[in-house]
Amino acid sequence: MVVTVRHALGQYDVHIEAGLLATLPALLDRAMPARRRVVISDETVAREFEAPIRASAPLLLTIPPGEHSKTRSAWARLSDEMLSSGLGRDTGVVAFGGGVTGDLAGFVAATYLRGVPYAQVPTTLLAMVDASVGGKVGVDTRFGKNLIGAFHPPAVVVADPETLRTLPAEEFRAGLAETVKHGLIGDAAYFDWIESALARIQARDPATLTRLIQRSVEIKALVVSEDERESGRRETLNAGHTVAHALEHVTQYSLAHGEAVALGLVAECRLAARMGVAPAALADRVAGLLHALGLPVELPRGLAAGALLQAMRMDKKNRGGEIRMALPASLGAMHRAGPAWSVPVPCELLESELGERD
Ligand SMILES: NC(=O)c1ccc[n+]([C@@H]2O[C@H](COP(=O)([O-])OP(=O)(O)OC[C@H]3O[C@@H](n4cnc5c(N)ncnc54)[C@H](O)[C@@H]3O)[C@@H](O)[C@H]2O)c1
Ligand SMILES: [Zn+2]
Repeated sequence: MVVTVRHALGQYDVHIEAGLLATLPALLDRAMPARRRVVISDETVAREFEAPIRASAPLLLTIPPGEHSKTRSAWARLSDEMLSSGLGRDTGVVAFGGGVTGDLAGFVAATYLRGVPYAQVPTTLLAMVDASVGGKVGVDTRFGKNLIGAFHPPAVVVADPETLRTLPAEEFRAGLAETVKHGLIGDAAYFDWIESALARIQARDPATLTRLIQRSVEIKALVVSEDERESGRRETLNAGHTVAHALEHVTQYSLAHGEAVALGLVAECRLAARMGVAPAALADRVAGLLHALGLPVELPRGLAAGALLQAMRMDKKNRGGEIRMALPASLGAMHRAGPAWSVPVPCELLESELGERD
């Protein structure tokens, strides 16, 4: 199964199939021919997938697992290790792991000797359905996440759903939250299918996951290819995330990203209903599916609406102090106001939706 992702600089293939890792070296040879390859991975993933990693490159560089590795100092260390190994412009970087590895290794590749190609081998559901499309790479700073980076699309993405067998449940759910978002913003039939395939998804059946990943990648690729630079339709990919980012901020990241996205999707559907742009039943349907997937749908108690609003105002996507959101109109279709895919949401509404309730 191959999905071709088109972007301003060209296109690349996302290969999705159970057992693909066995053919990884051949896929890399084809996508990045005559390259000296280096694999960048995190320590957990490198241990789990030692054999395919060894088979695909002579050099392996690792980072400690987790978001705190997505830094400029890790970028500097990896780049220096590649320089000291004498790797030249004929280098191809293989990002083998989750979204942290992908973003960081992609940024290393984007900047190494002014840019060398890289391949992505995502091993988390989130990296497969979200981070593998769009070409964004980068690192976090103490001023915020993903503030330093580049557009550097991969040469190829190789997603093997069998790798998800060892993924912790919480990480798996994080990816599922994004697939529900994809159904909500772009394809009602896909949303229906997720509802109907619930048991097989939860059992991580490889054929079912292949279909899940494929459709999510297609939806994200379609949205991104219509809008390479985040001005228009790409905003719809932010569905649920304005509230999610604020929740992550005020809880100091004690909520997992998937949990925050689930809560954000439900809250933003409810806001859409209150603003009269979506039917009230939509929020219930979305909440029902997220809940069935093991994700939270009711805001934790004791959250201060004021702190959430403050965090939303600081979000880099909000211009001039007003809080804008891309809101759903119905299942599979986002609300559009003229050319804009996001609308300002009145503070009073936010306060009553996000505030303390009994
Ligand atoms: N570039 C983009 O467009 C984009 C989109 C979405 C998210 N992101 C970024 O992705 C990052 C989050 O990605 P993530 O959730 O994959 O996090 P991650 O890379 O930290 O992986 C999560 C955890 O799972 C472990 N792991 C990975 N694969 C495994 C496997 N197969 N078996 C067992 N354990 C495994 C990792 O070691 C890690 O501890 C964030 O930094 C986010 O900003 C980027
Ligand atoms: Zn997300």
